[in-house]
Amino acid sequence: MCGIIGVALRRGNAAAEVYDGLERLEYRGYDSAGMSVKTDGGTVTVKRGGRVANLKDSAAGLSGNVATGHTRWATHGEPSDKNAHPHVAGKFSIVHNGIIENYRELKEERLKGGAEFVSDTDSEVIVRLLNKDYSGDLLAAGAATVKRLKGSYALGILCEDFDGIIAVKYKSPVVVGFGEKGIALCSDIPALPEWVSAVCVPEDGDIVSISAQSASFYDGELQPANRVRRPIFAGQFNCGRGDYPHYMLKEIHETERTVRDTCDAFFRNVDVKRLTDYVRNADRIILTGCGTAYNAGLVAKRFFSDRCGVFCQVEIASELRYSPVHITGSTLVLAISQSGETADTVEAVSSLKEAGAHVVAVTNCGYSAITRVAHLTVPVCAGAEVCVAATKSYIGQLAALYLISNLTSDIFAARKKLLEVGGKVGELLKGCGSADKIAKECAQSSAVFFLGRGADYAVAVEASLKLKEISYIFSDGYPAGELKHGTLALIDENTLSVIIICDESLAEKCENAVSQVASRKGKVAVITSLEVVAEKLKDTAAVWKIPECSAQLSPFVSAVALQMVAYKTAVSLGRDPDKPRNLAKSVTVE
Ligand code: AGP
Repeated sequence: MCGIIGVALRRGNAAAEVYDGLERLEYRGYDSAGMSVKTDGGTVTVKRGGRVANLKDSAAGLSGNVATGHTRWATHGEPSDKNAHPHVAGKFSIVHNGIIENYRELKEERLKGGAEFVSDTDSEVIVRLLNKDYSGDLLAAGAATVKRLKGSYALGILCEDFDGIIAVKYKSPVVVGFGEKGIALCSDIPALPEWVSAVCVPEDGDIVSISAQSASFYDGELQPANRVRRPIFAGQFNCGRGDYPHYMLKEIHETERTVRDTCDAFFRNVDVKRLTDYVRNADRIILTGCGTAYNAGLVAKRFFSDRCGVFCQVEIASELRYSPVHITGSTLVLAISQSGETADTVEAVSSLKEAGAHVVAVTNCGYSAITRVAHLTVPVCAGAEVCVAATKSYIGQLAALYLISNLTSDIFAARKKLLEVGGKVGELLKGCGSADKIAKECAQSSAVFFLGRGADYAVAVEASLKLKEISYIFSDGYPAGELKHGTLALIDENTLSVIIICDESLAEKCENAVSQVASRKGKVAVITSLEVVAEKLKDTAAVWKIPECSAQLSPFVSAVALQMVAYKTAVSLGRDPDKPRNLAKSVTVE
């Protein structure tokens, strides 16, 4: 949701570093891109609407040792050249990720003060305020300006009078990276330059003065602040997409490895004793997240109900703050988030923590905002997930949640089962011919309904999200039993219903749904792990028989099959599955 980057170099060309960084950060927004570079002739700013590649030629001609850059996901003002960042006024250039909620009032005030605005963005008020507040002391101007802002912001500020960058953080993510070439700031660790070998994560309210030699951290009152520097190896994240045509396909193929690494990290890095106490003593368990992370909660709820014998509920994080939930000192909240930065999730679990709950983060990103709120973190080891559509991270979340749900029973047996089911995913991905067939049906349909019962219903909801976000075909995930209570009215020869049947005890009832759709002339596809079902329905539906596995763990395999269907549908329609329109990878605004 907008990416910012900046580098101050002891050697090398900062413009080239920033451009490369923007390519890595593009998953955070691709409405426009821009950069400011401190050159011998002063600060030069270039920006373009659309993808980062549109900036390539202009960036190639720039050189300097300090630069900032921005990829935009538009919130205020349409995607265009004029609304692209950096925003420039007087001696300043700023890049901003976040939302300034009181921008109208501040804009009004600056207009009265004689300022002229050139964009429709909320961000431009920041650069206008900086100009007003600056009289030679850059940090003081930064502090005065941000005191006026309501909302969220990660900022990279350049000033003609300073050979470096000022970074500011409040609620939006930013990290500061250190390495042999100099110092960098960036929205996400995986997009940092390869030469970065250590990071500091500023706290909310921090202002950081960055030069090529050093970074000084201050709190909002401009008192020096000591922030821990942790070693990392940024190079491990910057792995590209290899021979795969899209990140999505590459990342789906990393599922088995994700399950394995998530299991290993669980036993290596998690405070298992404390986590077991939380689970054992929980009076209720609340699973929460947004989008795919929420959908992982829908599957995992069944793990917990089965294993822990405790009341378990799943809540959409963006709604949780407005829901009447009962919290005690024994309530356990499992906060699920790939990025660890989703504002709705972070805000929701912060308030549950305040109310007394134990909060455990289940996340793919260490050092992220959610890990700072949580009492404990359970890592999902998917590695960098670049495609906007979550794939391997969803399965990694399921693996981590399955392990947590088995803490009070036989955790080692659980691990063994997970490794086995990871192998089944590997097996599935060796032969995806049926995915082509079902994808073709999807691409030719006006709407696609995903139906299932029990865990298959939870998978149906995720399958629907995946298909709609990357193919732009209308779809819905629905309990198969609910079909006759309303959705059946939408079925006709132009719609496709994909019915997931992996639980033998529910199979016959799901087969009813197949008949109900087929008898209304609707097209039907079936994803099943059950040989008998595949055989029975082969003449009624396009059937994909996926590897057999237990009903409880079948979502690991069926969900991957449906990710492949979504991927192939999107590609056949000429969509870019990695960067679907209007979306961004990490949603850091509420
Ligand atoms: C998934 O395909 C989506 N792009 C989206 O729903 C995502 O899962 C959601 O925004 C939550 O993100 P998080 O896991 O980083 O919190």
